[in-house]
Amino acid sequence: MTNVSVSVNGQLREADVEPRTLLVYFLRETLGLTGTNVGCDTSTCGSCTVLVDGESVKSCTMLTAQADGREVTTIEAMADGDAMHPIQDAFHRNHGLQCGYCTPGMVMAAASYLKENPTPTEEEVREALEGNLCRCTGYQNIVKSILDAAGSMSGATA
Ligand code: FES
Ligand code: FES
Repeated sequence: MTNVSVSVNGQLREADVEPRTLLVYFLRETLGLTGTNVGCDTSTCGSCTVLVDGESVKSCTMLTAQADGREVTTIEAMADGDAMHPIQDAFHRNHGLQCGYCTPGMVMAAASYLKENPTPTEEEVREALEGNLCRCTGYQNIVKSILDAAGSMSGATA
């Protein structure tokens, strides 16, 4: 077992984990943070995306031991109490989800991307989402949601 100490959603979490434990299973099974989904386990779908030190990471591609001493943010920390994060709100208003399975990963990937590029074009959003798959929506409303969120977060009219 390896002892890890990871800041998760602002709270220091210490645990003994098997060295091979992937971060996504630490989050879901050890900490009970089941908002982060597992869609493929092979780094293809992006449904397991979280932020590690503010950067989006597919949590099925990282060992928990690699997150030792780092800051992890999951979908559970995006809302502020009852107030949805602007990206969540934009997905809600623009029907950016159907089954919702991919949505936590999409929201986390978008949060990281919009920090890098706060006013993206539609094409840039499509490119940025290449690592996140959705089997339901055809992406149109997801892209629309992210552009809308970019508008509201940068203060422009969406
Ligand atoms: S579960 Fe991690 S990329 Fe699909
Ligand atoms: S909304 Fe169902 S997978 Fe994206």
